[in-house]
Amino acid sequence: MDVLLGLQWGDEGKGKVVDVLAPQYNVVARFQGGPNAGHTLEFDGIKHVLHQIPSGIFRSNLTNIIGNGVVLDPVVLRKEIEGLKKFNIAFNENLFISKKATIIIPTHKLLDAAYEKSKGDKKIGSTLKGIGPTYQDKIGRVALRVGDILAEDFEAKYNTLVEKHKTTLSFYDFPLEELPELEKVFFESIEFFKTLNLIDSEYQVNDHLAKGDKVLAEGAQGSLLDIDFGSYPFVTSSSTMTAGACTGLGVAPSKIGEVYGIFKAYCTRVGSGPFPTELFDKDGEDMRKEGNEFGSTTGRPRRCGWIDLPALRYSIMINGVTQLFMMKGDVLNIFEKIKICTHYELPDGTRVDRLTYELNDQDVKPIYKTVNGWNKSLSGVTAYDGFPQELKDYVNILEEELQVPIKMVSIGPDRIQTILR
Ligand code: GDP
Ligand code: IMO
Ligand code: MG
Repeated sequence: MDVLLGLQWGDEGKGKVVDVLAPQYNVVARFQGGPNAGHTLEFDGIKHVLHQIPSGIFRSNLTNIIGNGVVLDPVVLRKEIEGLKKFNIAFNENLFISKKATIIIPTHKLLDAAYEKSKGDKKIGSTLKGIGPTYQDKIGRVALRVGDILAEDFEAKYNTLVEKHKTTLSFYDFPLEELPELEKVFFESIEFFKTLNLIDSEYQVNDHLAKGDKVLAEGAQGSLLDIDFGSYPFVTSSSTMTAGACTGLGVAPSKIGEVYGIFKAYCTRVGSGPFPTELFDKDGEDMRKEGNEFGSTTGRPRRCGWIDLPALRYSIMINGVTQLFMMKGDVLNIFEKIKICTHYELPDGTRVDRLTYELNDQDVKPIYKTVNGWNKSLSGVTAYDGFPQELKDYVNILEEELQVPIKMVSIGPDRIQTILR
């Protein structure tokens, strides 16, 4: 099984790459996260954003699996499937959902909002999709799982959990007016959910591997949002790394082959938390405009900044990345000079290049190496040979610094704007 992950704070372009690689695979499987993800695919003039459905769904004769590590909102899933109607996708044949995946219920979303509100200006900037509270219940051993919806006592189990949530919501003085309507839609979606393929996905994935099929595990979010290694507490609530693909699908570590690390040619972050290379000037604004850096799930403007090598090295280390894919190279077309962060400087003047525990809470200054930009359009470029020399130099510098081959450079959102090296 190969694993594809974001190495930064999410939105690196994972959806596009899964779609590009999908023809080489028999199975694409999501292993963590949930509707907080927004994975964009563009082809034949169509742009589509997927939240919970794996990004292999547009390639026929490919199996898509939502693994046990995912937290799944049945309401969002139903909307997603309905939104894909025009593509005539045979969901009964190519979408499978783990019975051990955890279900997001309406009160999880209210709890998410209540927790965020109570944090004031220390808020995480959650997508408010109920991710944190649902994983909390999973670890607390009280959550509902997909398989539970088939049991006769599902509603009773649901009610027990909701009562618990209501106690917490009343502690936070959170209004419940919305709840009856949310529950109505939720239970309608549960009926629809029952018509989908609900399976023991760990067997299905391992059966595929046993017969020699190729499986691609599709990560959501990014390593710097990982629950253990991200900029805690400004993180998501799941394991976004290679190891998460093992627990989130039930695949042994010894079965992992390639690990594809996806990164942008610069950095973005949506939500709160440290971001050493963040730009607050015109360069940052231009990057946001040129890269259309607005959240695929929430529409929020993404914070933008230069590429951060210490952070990328860290992500490469914890994931065992074997190949790098650089995305959105074209967005840097507009700059005459491009900056690459090689180190951080601490308030006492020391230079560091490691993401230590202490670093999170320190005001660090990024130390840059400045290189010449190519400062021209890449439209019409279809092969690596056609790249301007400065872009080739940029790729070579990053490869040298990161010590992992950059196998693909993306220069536009469309499937075909992908250059192999
Ligand atoms: P994901 O969450 O990692 O799948 O990434 P998102 O879909 O949230 O965000 C990536 C955005 O960049 C989407 O709007 C993509 O269509 C777009 N995109 C992907 N690759 C490129 C690229 O090489 N150039 C440009 N300009 N846009 C890209
Ligand atoms: P994809 O898969 C970018 C961020 C949120 C917030 C933090 C916690 O599209 O790359 P959560 O809703 O998980 O409680 O939010 O994580 N976040 C993402 N940022 N891309 C994502 O997914 C994200 N999913 C969550 O903005 O800062
Ligand atoms: Mg996204």
